Amino acid sequence: MIDLEEILSHYGVKGKVEGEVLGPLIKQIKFKPEAGTKIKNITSSIDDIAREMGVKNLRISNVCDGGCIGFEIANDVLLSTPLLNLLESEAAANAKGALPINLGVKIDGSPIFADLAKMPHLLVAGATGSGKSVGLNSFIISLIKRKKSSELKFVMIDPKRIEFSVYNDQSYMLMPVITDNADASEALQYLIVEMNKRYEMLEKSLTKNIGEYNEKIGGMPYIVTIVDEFSDLVLSDKTVEKKIQILAQKARAAGIHLILATQRPSVDVVTGSIKANFPSRLAFKTASGVDSKTILDTTGAEDLVGRGDALFLAATGELTRVHGAYISTEEIESLLKPFRCKIDPVLQNNVLTEQEKAPSPADLKNESKKKKEFFLISWIKGVWNWLSKTEKKKLLKMIWLLLVGAFAGAKVQNRKGEIFDSIADSLTKTKRRTYTTARRKKTSSRR
Ligand SMILES: Nc1ncnc2c1ncn2[C@@H]1O[C@H](COP(=O)(O)OP(=O)(O)O)[C@@H](O)[C@H]1O
Ligand SMILES: [Mg+2]
Repeated sequence: MIDLEEILSHYGVKGKVEGEVLGPLIKQIKFKPEAGTKIKNITSSIDDIAREMGVKNLRISNVCDGGCIGFEIANDVLLSTPLLNLLESEAAANAKGALPINLGVKIDGSPIFADLAKMPHLLVAGATGSGKSVGLNSFIISLIKRKKSSELKFVMIDPKRIEFSVYNDQSYMLMPVITDNADASEALQYLIVEMNKRYEMLEKSLTKNIGEYNEKIGGMPYIVTIVDEFSDLVLSDKTVEKKIQILAQKARAAGIHLILATQRPSVDVVTGSIKANFPSRLAFKTASGVDSKTILDTTGAEDLVGRGDALFLAATGELTRVHGAYISTEEIESLLKPFRCKIDPVLQNNVLTEQEKAPSPADLKNESKKKKEFFLISWIKGVWNWLSKTEKKKLLKMIWLLLVGAFAGAKVQNRKGEIFDSIADSLTKTKRRTYTTARRKKTSSRR
């Protein structure tokens, strides 16, 4: 039994333990400090307090009922929470919003749902093995359990080719799972075109968003785009970040939402523009405090216990510790069986017309080269028109002389080359001759 009051008193912190909450992954001890206690005294000595408590991953949350501080310690035995149980719960039935997804359970084990439509996009990060893919599957299944395939479509991008193959040939898929970076970039472009088409539809029907449109006219499915590992995608194709930015800024009203996950939350991947457009973020256990800071703007995710343990930053700025629920691939497979079908071939290939296609990075390079050439030619034309007739004549004469001079110079250079070659040649010949005569003289003298 840890005597937290005694340990904290060593660091000049006085107060009382008010109770504890035992959840599936952690135990939270509620400690009420005496009035005037500075939290700084606790946070600055956190490593020493953890050592005295004999625990590895100690996290302190300072928002806890009754003015308490929560001391969160990992349990010896980590229990998993089955997603399917949570989706059958009353909390699931009461979950509000157009696209409620299950984030797992709170510290005390109660289910927690959040509306993806309101987020309106979600950024997910965490080290390898921290529970990102299980989390993404939970979100997908939460939505599939709730919506018909006519109301919801997925675009899944999986450069690692392992996570989403189970979803291929499902009526919920807008196109087959994408595993290639170039295809992924084109799919994002397709979504931008689709978004613009939808905006036109909203305008024509005098509705403001997908909810109103479906009430009035109907037939517009939500599109949830999920990328499991977007770092390579962003780093390999410069247009991707821009496309993500356009979608993140505008696609919400058109019912298009993004969930991006990465194990590499460095600043070149989770860039300023991506962060600005993704206020809702979920951090599983990160490799370092720096990674935690990149994704959440605060440290703490490095002290999580793994296995789906996460910190959820809501768009409102509120930070909540959640434990992701578990679902196995077998469960997903059996759940998806009824929805197995061939995807509409229209959506498989060539969905974009030539005009709708975004320029590739090579196209952009060519374009900028062409722009430079165009600029040079217009400049020359401008200067030419500006000159008077006599000046034009003089200029042409000068150019002519320059050309003749350059031509003659080149000829002389060539000749020079020849002259030098022959000189060099004769020199080597004389050298060789003098060398052989010297040798002959030497051998004859020896005889
Ligand atoms: N919510 C969870 N509950 C229980 N175990 C989990 C959970 N999330 C992940 N795990 C365990 O961790 C392993 C790695 O999870 P995974 O989602 O593949 O990690 P990542 O995609 O971050 O590399 C899983 O195979 C599973 O055994
Ligand atoms: Mg993964």
